[in-house]
Amino acid sequence: MLFISTANLVSALALCSTLTGLVLANGPRTQCSVTYNAPPGANCTSIGEQAGVNQSTIQSINPGTDCNDFPGGTLCLKQWTPTCTLNATATNQTCDALADVWNITSSDFVEYNDNVNDTCSNLVIGQPYCVSIDGCYPGNDAPFCQQ
Ligand SMILES: *[C@@H]1O[C@H](CO)[C@@H](O)[C@H](O)[C@H]1NC(C)=O
Ligand SMILES: *[C@@H]1O[C@H](CO)[C@@H](O)[C@H](O)[C@H]1NC(C)=O
Ligand SMILES: *[C@@H]1O[C@H](CO)[C@@H](O)[C@H](O)[C@H]1NC(C)=O
Ligand SMILES: *[C@@H]1O[C@H](CO)[C@@H](O)[C@H](O)[C@H]1NC(C)=O
Ligand SMILES: *[C@@H]1O[C@H](CO)[C@@H](O)[C@H](O)[C@H]1NC(C)=O
Ligand SMILES: *[C@@H]1O[C@H](CO)[C@@H](O)[C@H](O)[C@H]1NC(C)=O
Repeated sequence: MLFISTANLVSALALCSTLTGLVLANGPRTQCSVTYNAPPGANCTSIGEQAGVNQSTIQSINPGTDCNDFPGGTLCLKQWTPTCTLNATATNQTCDALADVWNITSSDFVEYNDNVNDTCSNLVIGQPYCVSIDGCYPGNDAPFCQQ
């Protein structure tokens, strides 16, 4: 019989992840919290003046945007990165199943874990993943707030 200690298994998984270039549990993705639907011909100066955001911010959160020849479309004006408030270990299950246990949607799960890809095909068994960005506050009776 082959005995594998948890510590060995974890380091084996960590090594495996390093070799495949995966980045393990590092928390929620940065999201756009304010968008602006700019008309064609708008430029970052004119958009920025209306929205109170400077051109370098617009440029850095919308990589690839040509500020002086904007074809029109949605620009992000403000971003935020949620803080993870609860991790759970992935056991032998899919992201959908894990999300189900923690009462979040599968797309929430992907949003909460920026190391998980869109189809969640790179979940690593035995690793922690973020399953909540809710804070505990009076009246929040989520189980993890009862401890
Ligand atoms: C940006 O748009 C404003 C308003 O239309 C215009 O006055 C300004 O010259 C434009 N700036 C550039 C760099 O195109
Ligand atoms: C643009 O705005 C950001 C955030 O308010 C600020 O940190 C930055 O220094 C500003 N940059 C310029 C060139 O004004
Ligand atoms: C979740 O796990 C990550 C990676 O181990 C860690 O950086 C983060 O602090 C953890 N968050 C919580 C709320 O435990
Ligand atoms: C995970 O679960 C599936 C289906 O229940 C099973 O076939 C598979 O052997 C399990 N894998 C591990 C590593 O336990
Ligand atoms: C998920 O929701 C169910 C039904 O509302 C509840 O019984 C369960 O405790 C919840 N689980 C978590 C982890 O919040
Ligand atoms: C998901 O991640 C795995 C492992 O990094 C990769 O092989 C696969 O192509 C990715 N799938 C998508 C849809 O990004």
